[in-house]
Amino acid sequence: MQTTSMPLIFLIGISFLLLPTAQAESTKSKASPKFTFDELWNLETGFWDAFLYPQNKKQIEGNSSTVFAPEVQGRVDITRTFDGDELNREYIFGLFSDPSHVSLVGVPINYSITQFTANENIASATTIVTFNATTFGVLVPVTIDTWIEFDSQGKITQYDATFRWFEYLLDYLLESTVAKINATSSDEAVGYISDILAKTICATHEESCTGENKQYNNSSDCYDYLTQKIRFGKSYELGRNTLLCREVHEHMVPLRPDVHCSHIGPSGGNYCVDDMDYEQTVLQKYFNGSWIPFGYGDDQNVWLGSS
Ligand SMILES: *[C@@H]1O[C@H](CO)[C@@H](O)[C@H](O)[C@H]1NC(C)=O
Ligand SMILES: *[C@@H]1O[C@H](CO)[C@@H](O)[C@H](O)[C@H]1NC(C)=O
Ligand SMILES: *[C@@H]1O[C@H](CO)[C@@H](O)[C@H](O)[C@H]1NC(C)=O
Ligand SMILES: *[C@@H]1O[C@H](CO)[C@@H](O)[C@H](O)[C@H]1NC(C)=O
Ligand SMILES: *[C@@H]1O[C@H](CO)[C@@H](O)[C@H](O)[C@H]1NC(C)=O
Ligand SMILES: *[C@@H]1O[C@H](CO)[C@@H](O)[C@H](O)[C@H]1NC(C)=O
Ligand SMILES: *[C@@H]1O[C@H](CO)[C@@H](O)[C@H](O)[C@H]1NC(C)=O
Repeated sequence: MQTTSMPLIFLIGISFLLLPTAQAESTKSKASPKFTFDELWNLETGFWDAFLYPQNKKQIEGNSSTVFAPEVQGRVDITRTFDGDELNREYIFGLFSDPSHVSLVGVPINYSITQFTANENIASATTIVTFNATTFGVLVPVTIDTWIEFDSQGKITQYDATFRWFEYLLDYLLESTVAKINATSSDEAVGYISDILAKTICATHEESCTGENKQYNNSSDCYDYLTQKIRFGKSYELGRNTLLCREVHEHMVPLRPDVHCSHIGPSGGNYCVDDMDYEQTVLQKYFNGSWIPFGYGDDQNVWLGSS
């Protein structure tokens, strides 16, 4: 993993072994690991270091993660929730790891943490990540607000990410396109981008989704479906029945066709589907762990799952 936090995690492991007190004993049930502010800062920057291209490519190579705990729970506001290490590595690292592939924001090249506070094993940060949006030919700063919870080894057990100003970002990319193609309206730019995305998704489908994984009869059916039968998608619809959702999932298809082909198909494979309305999204009981340190507020936290 990131060279900076390896020794740290090692030290934390050692210190747990050496703790003879009740604190170490009590970790058996729901007691949370206690990190210092300094340790949490290093875990936070370790995550973002691993997120940058090309370091992020390493995270999708091995079989188990140095960043995520096996049962990690993750949520991204503009998409949806993601369970487990393998899936999360594909989404968080795989999605942003190929500058030559058509994509919305491209690859992350640097970051600046502008807000950070942390307690116990929970860190909250605002990070401005500069993406090289190669498809659009622009460098674009993207603001990502995150809450991250770590286990005693410093691996992420749950995260909650919000793309701040994402609608503004989409509009900005559309405006860049309007200028680039001399379009007279943003609708024209949407048509231009839809064409590129649909062709990319259908080419990936032809190449990776064969046999039982096939979703469309042929490329023209695929293109027709993606450009005529579903919505392009609004800024909050990257996990709904839209073209933008299928563009997100297209990146993962070659990694595990059996898992991801259905996500770019007509069914949306439970990921690109209109399964939840606004209220269900906002009130979803998803996280097993509390986002409030020291056990405060559990009795009134509507996001806590039933476990
Ligand atoms: C991952 O696991 C598979 C089989 O379980 C094995 O063949 C492969 O070598 C492993 N890859 C790495 C990078 O450990
Ligand atoms: C990130 O890179 C861009 C482009 O090179 C640069 O303008 C920006 O200042 C950099 N930001 C940080 C935090 O290094
Ligand atoms: C952005 O990507 C392009 C295409 O890969 C590359 O030529 C350019 O150097 C990159 N810019 C930065 C600042 O990384
Ligand atoms: C856009 O317009 C400019 C100026 O009229 C022209 O130089 C450029 O080639 C046009 N670009 C495209 C993609 O049509
Ligand atoms: C595939 O072809 C069959 C038979 O012609 C048709 O019923 C079906 O709608 C087609 N699927 C798509 C996704 O167009
Ligand atoms: C694609 O499949 C549809 C049936 O779903 C068929 O009507 C159409 O002729 C096919 N197109 C090509 C180019 O093969
Ligand atoms: C979270 O709780 C659900 C439902 O109780 C359970 O199925 C799941 O395994 C739990 N996940 C973790 C990471 O503890």
